[in-house]
Amino acid sequence: RKRVVVLISGSGSNMVALADACAASDFPAEIVGVISDKKTAGGLAKAEARGIATFAFERKDYASKAEHEAAVLAALASLKPDIVCLAGYMRLLTAEFIRPYEGRILNIHPSLLPLFPGLHTHQRALDAGMRVSGCTVHFVTEGMDEGPVVAQSVVPVLPGDTADTLAARVLTVEHKTYPLALKLFAEGKIRMTGDGKVERDGVQVSAASH
Ligand code: GAR
Repeated sequence: RKRVVVLISGSGSNMVALADACAASDFPAEIVGVISDKKTAGGLAKAEARGIATFAFERKDYASKAEHEAAVLAALASLKPDIVCLAGYMRLLTAEFIRPYEGRILNIHPSLLPLFPGLHTHQRALDAGMRVSGCTVHFVTEGMDEGPVVAQSVVPVLPGDTADTLAARVLTVEHKTYPLALKLFAEGKIRMTGDGKVERDGVQVSAASH
């Protein structure tokens, strides 16, 4: 089973979805640690309740971004992950952070990338008059919410939607799509090629069809 470390900043519902998938004995990955940049992240208690080792490094406890990243990297290295999953980790990673794990870091973003990267995703989708939205799991490269797409799922935008109701609908498909993408990657069915594309071994990568 591949060793997975999940990085979070908030409630950790995607981390829980990954942990629940990993609880199945035939799942090809296990979560060996959860790291947060917020000591108050709700996801930390959820990880602890599942017996997963947790670590928290507040940015304000470090003099610089580089020192903060070094602390996170050291904890990460001690856990010897095969795969790093960003799950609502609201920090841009530097090239130095990514390099040792190049092609082995996944992120989930609550839009159909490359549309609406960054913050306030759902409000921007509503303002643009979108009739569908969704989520994207992608390999992490240096840019914010950039990198080749592994899997996407689509939801409708419904009349009367607010950013909150749309976020909740997207979150329900995030919880299916991220475990699916992790499974495919952990099984070696998907990989990031040297030229930054995703190679798929004939697999369908949309949670909607599963
Ligand atoms: C999720 O919707 C995730 O896609 C988003 O933050 C939320 C975290 O929720 N991530 C981003 O916006 C990254 N740019 P969670 O802590 O309950 O998993």
